[in-house]
Order: sequence, then structure tokens, then C-alpha cells
Amino acid sequence: MSEITRTPDGALTATPAAKLAPANDGSAPARAGQATTEAVAESAAERGLGPRAARTRQGGRTITVGIVGATGYAGGELVRLLLNHPRVRLVGLHGRNRDNVPIAESHPHLAATGLVIDQAIPRADAVFTALPHGVAASMTADIVVRGSALLDVGPDFRLHDPTDYPRWYKFDHPAPELLAQAVYGLPELHRQEMRDAAEREATIIGLPGCYPTATILTLAPLARAGLIGDLAVDAKSGVSGAGREPKPDLLFSEVNESVKAYSVFSHRHTAEMEQELQQQGERGALGSRDANPGVAMVDFLPHLIPMTRGILASCHVRPTRPVTQAELDALYAEAYRDEPFVQVVADPPATKHVYGSNLCRVWCRVDPRSGRILALGVIDNLVKGAAGQAVQALNVIFGLPETTGLEQYPIAP
Ligand SMILES: NC(=O)c1ccc[n+]([C@@H]2O[C@H](COP(=O)([O-])OP(=O)(O)OC[C@H]3O[C@@H](n4cnc5c(N)ncnc54)[C@H](OP(=O)(O)O)[C@@H]3O)[C@@H](O)[C@H]2O)c1
Repeated sequence: MSEITRTPDGALTATPAAKLAPANDGSAPARAGQATTEAVAESAAERGLGPRAARTRQGGRTITVGIVGATGYAGGELVRLLLNHPRVRLVGLHGRNRDNVPIAESHPHLAATGLVIDQAIPRADAVFTALPHGVAASMTADIVVRGSALLDVGPDFRLHDPTDYPRWYKFDHPAPELLAQAVYGLPELHRQEMRDAAEREATIIGLPGCYPTATILTLAPLARAGLIGDLAVDAKSGVSGAGREPKPDLLFSEVNESVKAYSVFSHRHTAEMEQELQQQGERGALGSRDANPGVAMVDFLPHLIPMTRGILASCHVRPTRPVTQAELDALYAEAYRDEPFVQVVADPPATKHVYGSNLCRVWCRVDPRSGRILALGVIDNLVKGAAGQAVQALNVIFGLPETTGLEQYPIAP
């Protein structure tokens, strides 16, 4: 780790040598943005030898990682999490128009790492992109050609149908051939496909959006059972979900002591929810994409809440048939029994219960009076909704235990 010392006047400071990116496994550190040539040569040679995951697991090898868009909220959270990952070495942090700029300028909380931001696209075993929609897709080919596994935190590789991009995101996908190879990176639903993608020439993981992560994990057991007859998702997000680019709507005086709905009837994440929940119906007990009439057109209404982090997805379901609480309990227990990050809880969860962690908490009840199902899910949008999920995906594709580097408990109060 960075060497932190105390000055004669008692202040804590990072030594110049702390400009080295740490190798958490104790191997020689690499300077951020540099020292990548040998790492890439080494990893390319190893790439020819056999499956990526097996090599990493068996060799106990360090994974070199770069982050594009490291100056943003999701990028900063990736740095924070990966600094504690025992098998990762950060070898390059990209920020547009930056050249050897201390990370403290973007992320004061990470000043002691001594890392720097450059505009070079990192060469590494894995590259995370945390960029606005449309930007990552235009850079992908270069990253993939270099042999890096690409993990996109943004939406550019989440939707399988290229025509969904002009429809929902208002841009034509610049690399539909790469889109066809991408896997939706929600491990709880697509673990094996992610592992399979890891062994392909081009490994591209389109990491889920924050609202879809909370919503899909909350509803997947119902979708697999073909129980979603009608659905309304009423969701709330903290302000960090909108990124850090300044916008008048996100000023403190606009957001504080106020709650408002936004993107009414048009939020882009609706497309992901429909894609994934329909697929769960197809893979589930009834084996049909149409098993859940309520997910063909998800009724999704997001709200901005005056808090920094967190998402609560409240999912109101009219079931396709009468259900009992015992049946629901069995479905959720079965779905998430072996999942390290999804907790089925007995009381309605709060965003505070997962703050700063990679956890998703879900709760599901049938209302005996109305017969409707209410399913609630909470995540931290920057961890399970973005950077934590991305690290979990990295662990999947490199064959590491999924919890590696993600063991931290939530912060409270
Ligand atoms: N925030 C969340 O909770 C969350 C959750 C899941 C997914 N996501 C997705 O993750 C991505 C990043 O979100 P964020 O919240 O981290 O946004 P952000 O805080 O606004 O950061 C955006 C990053 O992209 C860079 N950037 C912007 N325009 C660029 C361009 N034209 N070329 C190169 N770099 C550019 C920014 O650099 P500068 O510093 O130079 O502006 C910054 O590093 C988005 O696609 C978002 O939808 C976010």
C-alpha cells in the first residue's frame, strides 16, 4: 500500500513513493498508467495457454486492471474497492484531458493513494469503462483488440438488440458485432454465460444499471415462476445515481427536502428490466418468454430522493394466479440460498442496511386482503449498482471467489 507517514507537525502525508499503484498480493508495484508493457506481454502469453479463469486461479496470479473514466463517481468507487482487492494491481487510471494529474484533484478521499490520472487508455488484463452512454462503445474495439477483458459499467453493452439503442439511448450502436458477444453481467442470473465469455477472444461484460439491479434481483424468483401478471415498479434513488456532472436539477437547493418523479414513461433502464425479466420467464418453470404478461411493458417510475447513495425498488405485482406466502418464501429461499450478496430478509429493508456494501436485500409478501404481491429490494447504487457489481463480475471471469475484495459490511448509521 501507499506509505503513509507523519510529518513533524503531526499531519499525515503520503510519501512520493506512494505514487506507485499497490500490488495487494505483495508483488512488485506498478506505477499507475505505466509499467503495463511487461504485464500485457505476460498476460498475452498466458492467454494463449489456456482458460483465463483457470490460469488465474491456479497461478495465484495478479490481475492487472485499468479504469477508463476514473474521475467519475463509479470510476472513483472502482478505485476505492480495487485498492483492497488482494489479487488486483491497478496499472492505469484514465481521465479525459488529464496528464499525470493526482487523483486527489478528482477524488480527495483517495489522495493518500498517490495515484495519478492519465489520458492513455490502460493496457491491462481487464479494463473497466465508467463513461456516459455512447462513449464506451466507441472505444471498445481498441480495448478488446489489445486482449483486455472489457467490463462496461455504463449501458453500452447491456441491451442485446442493437435497435434498442436508438430507441432508448438515442444513438446508433457503433459496434453491433461486439454487442452480439456481450454478456449481461448480473452474476446471480448469468454466472455461467459470464464464465463462458471469459474464454472467448473478446470478453465483454455489460454491467447492469443500478435500478435494474435492484428491480431484477427483487423480481427474478417471481419471473421464473411465471407469477408476474401485472407490474408497477416505483423506485427511489439517491443523487449520486445521476453522476457528478453538474446539472441544475441536481443542485442541493433543488434536491434537498424534496422528492420528485422523473423520466416519466421513458426511463432508459426500462429496456433492461424488460429484456432480463422476459428471459427469466423463458428460463423458468413455464419455459416461455410470455410467461409473465406484466414484464412485456414494465411500468417503471423512478424518483430522486435527497440522499447521497441508495436505491429502493418497490415492485407491485398482480400475480397471474393466487399464491401463498409459503410459496413465495420457498421461491426466494431457493433462488438466493447460495448467493453471497443477496439477502432475503424478514422485514422491509432500508437503503441504510446496505450502504457502502455489495449487498442487495429483498423482501416479498403477498397481501392477504388484495392478493397482490409487494416485493422490495435495496442496494447501494455505487456498489452493488455499479462498482461492486463490476468487481464481482471481474471475480467471476477470472475464476476467483466472488466475494474477493468485497467483504466489507455496510456502513451505519
Ligand atoms: N452513478 C451511479 O450510481 C451509476 C450506477 C450504475 C451505472 N452507472 C453508469 O456508469 C457510467 C458512469 O457514471 P458516473 O455516475 O460515474 O458518471 P460521472 O460521475 O458523471 O462520471 C463520468 C465519467 O466519464 C468521463 N467522461 C464524460 N464524458 C466523456 C467523454 N466524452 N469522453 C471521455 N470521458 C468522458 C468523465 O470525465 P470528466 O471528469 O472529464 O468529466 C467521468 O470520468 C454511466 O454510464 C452511468 O450510467 C452509474
